[in-house]
Amino acid sequence: MSETRRHQGAFLATFAGMIDRVRAPRGDVSLAADERLDGKHVLVTGASRGLGRAIARGLARLGANVHVAVRSLAEETVADVRAQGGRGTVTAWRLDLERLDSVDALATSLAAADVRLDVLVLNAGVVPLASRTTPHGLDMMLQVNALSNMRLVDRLLAGRVLVPDDVAPRIVVVGSEAHRSSEPIDWTALATPRTYTTSQVVSEYGRTKLVLHTWVAELTRRLGGPDRHIEVHHLCPGAIASSIAREAPAWAKPLLDLTFRAFFQSPDVAARPVLYLAASRQLAGQTGVYLHMTVRKEPAALSMEPSQGAAGWKAGHEVLAQADFTSQRS
Ligand SMILES: NC(=O)c1ccc[n+]([C@@H]2O[C@H](COP(=O)([O-])OP(=O)(O)OC[C@H]3O[C@@H](n4cnc5c(N)ncnc54)[C@H](OP(=O)(O)O)[C@@H]3O)[C@@H](O)[C@H]2O)c1
Repeated sequence: MSETRRHQGAFLATFAGMIDRVRAPRGDVSLAADERLDGKHVLVTGASRGLGRAIARGLARLGANVHVAVRSLAEETVADVRAQGGRGTVTAWRLDLERLDSVDALATSLAAADVRLDVLVLNAGVVPLASRTTPHGLDMMLQVNALSNMRLVDRLLAGRVLVPDDVAPRIVVVGSEAHRSSEPIDWTALATPRTYTTSQVVSEYGRTKLVLHTWVAELTRRLGGPDRHIEVHHLCPGAIASSIAREAPAWAKPLLDLTFRAFFQSPDVAARPVLYLAASRQLAGQTGVYLHMTVRKEPAALSMEPSQGAAGWKAGHEVLAQADFTSQRS
């Protein structure tokens, strides 16, 4: 099956996930015993469940001070992460990526608390049942999966919560191989509300992830540099037995549950490459590493084109500025 067709529709995407689980080559993403994050400050978005929860648990075991950014299950998440017996602290912060004021408030609160991040994991993501819009009039899936991440990084940089340094902080972004299935993005229409049904949602998901990976490539170019810099890595974790399909239609749930249990990775296994990107010494001085599960690859060529990155950066910031303007007027 061609790379561009693999994630076109829920059936093909689920099948592709099963095939990858069984046949994908394996790389080494293990960390040595002394590759730890003791004393480092790390923040994980979408830590309330699924992959994000497992990442937060893993970071705690590596000794980090873990900040979980969640919109639900805060107490349960903190208790679970603390129960890993790590040496660091565990702190919950509220974050709803559907609301830009919530994104801004998180950055402001972290700056006010003098938090300086060593690792930022942008993990939160969503697959809705069908299209819907946020209070800013933007497509919800696009905003949560891509635009709010742009906003968060901008605000963290402005508030000096993320600071380019000789020992570079790292940003690790959880994307998806589904970005390869997307049509090229019409950047002039990024803000145009989209209407899609359940059967079209997986293709749209790929589109939001192409926007995300294109932004990551541009961020890598902008934050790289010979001296003080920030390293940016991204990955597709592969198919995970998580809550990602929680909005799936009731008739499909029994089959999905069965498939998830039988074929998909546990969140703890899927978290290993994320922990590697966050903590590996081998990656010091590198930026823009992309992993598909445990294997290093090139992301889709389209996402790497500087002209696409520049157009996406401009369009994303214009859409966010327009959303602010609209919100202030309503
Ligand atoms: N599962 C897969 O097979 C798979 C494959 C490739 C890539 N991924 C990617 O992996 C990442 C994690 O997904 P998952 O599989 O762990 O799914 P999940 O179990 O559904 O977890 C998603 C997380 O994102 C959070 N989130 C969703 N909308 C949010 C919002 N508006 N504001 C703040 N947080 C929000 C959720 O918070 P709540 O608990 O509050 O909803 C939850 O913590 C996503 O980026 C996804 O695209 C997943």
